[in-house]
Amino acid sequence: EIVSVKGRQIWDSRGRPTVEAEVTLAGGAIGRGLAPAGASRGAHEAIDLRDGGHRFGGMGVDRAVAAVNGELAKALTGLDAADQDGADRVIVDLDGTANKARLGANATVALSMAVLNAAAAAEGLPLWRYLSQGARVRVPLPEIQIFGGGAHAGRRTDVQDFMVMVPHADTVRKALEVTADVYRAAGALMEETGRLSGTADEGGWWPNFSSNEEALVALVQSIEKAGYRPGEDVYISLDVAANELFHEGGYRLPLDNAQLDSAAIVERVARWAREYPILSIEDPVSQDDMTGMTDATRRLGDTVQIIGDDFLVTNAGRVEIAAAQGACNAVLVKVNQAGTVSEAKRALEAARAKGWSTIVSARSGETEDVTIAHLSTGWDAGQLKVGSFARSERMAKWNELLRIEDAMGADAVFAGASAFPAAVA
Ligand code: PGA
Ligand code: ZN
Repeated sequence: EIVSVKGRQIWDSRGRPTVEAEVTLAGGAIGRGLAPAGASRGAHEAIDLRDGGHRFGGMGVDRAVAAVNGELAKALTGLDAADQDGADRVIVDLDGTANKARLGANATVALSMAVLNAAAAAEGLPLWRYLSQGARVRVPLPEIQIFGGGAHAGRRTDVQDFMVMVPHADTVRKALEVTADVYRAAGALMEETGRLSGTADEGGWWPNFSSNEEALVALVQSIEKAGYRPGEDVYISLDVAANELFHEGGYRLPLDNAQLDSAAIVERVARWAREYPILSIEDPVSQDDMTGMTDATRRLGDTVQIIGDDFLVTNAGRVEIAAAQGACNAVLVKVNQAGTVSEAKRALEAARAKGWSTIVSARSGETEDVTIAHLSTGWDAGQLKVGSFARSERMAKWNELLRIEDAMGADAVFAGASAFPAAVA
């Protein structure tokens, strides 16, 4: 039984205010939830409540914290923390809007995750074990950024994330070791070629390339320089985050000096997929371009994982609609896009029911919280996307996977290539 709820303002990885919620149960168990924050957000996702005005550049969360300490605390006190659906229903009903606009998704997601963590603590179980309820679950395959671009790096590349995946590793420990080698090699290569400008919001190298394709070439070279075979040991994954490129009905790629319509951006991405060892592409088109997403999935979906992030916004209804149109074969699951744990889980389950793959994801604004490492494992999502291989808000999640893999001992199963949709694997 929930006996108290406390909200406070804390700080995220960009030095911006965010919301933390703390839930205490009758037996003394405590659970915390820390709200992350996106920069390249979809129009259809649940929205954070920010104070506006001049303080903290308008990013203050006083009103969201007040919602946790006021209305939400009152509504949740006395509820059973083990009934996540019930608690989340109370949160959703109390907010009363379609997108958490009244109380703020930053308030609701922090509280919803705090309830979940408290319930696991009450059982004395790590969250992944509490969620898996004895079922055999896999340690997720990491998707790790090497170059950061788009909204996370002053738009130095049009494509937002250039990432790698190591699906044939036997363990997550090995997959991370290989990634560390590639990350280091990429940094050295960029320094040698005068392309290095620091690190981006999610810890990837902040590049200074003169075309998007140059980043792909550099990534292949980095994999080789690190001593691995591109397309055999290490694969490339892209998040085009095409929402950010969409203006007045077309896609603008300034780095490539290109203005593309929907068919043309799909053609460009399809060419990259033919010429480079790309296994996964996220948001190749913008959030409402159903024709483009269907086209991309039809052309590439047999060999490439086509992920909807801003396109699906962790919404079960949008997953259903997309699946009916043959758009996407994978869903990115960000709990704060939905606003509660239960709604995010429903999106994941809707995707799984269609035979899609599922990727639990962090946001570009993160905290030290490692809950998503547990959600990804406990829900057997198969994949985890957290950003790069630097900065402690990222490394905290990767390190938690190492602890989880160790805790599983001889029973540990690394998702590896089994994480992809059947056709792609
Ligand atoms: P965001 O970006 O957290 O800034 O929205 C992450 C992503 O697009 O996957
Ligand atoms: Zn994305």
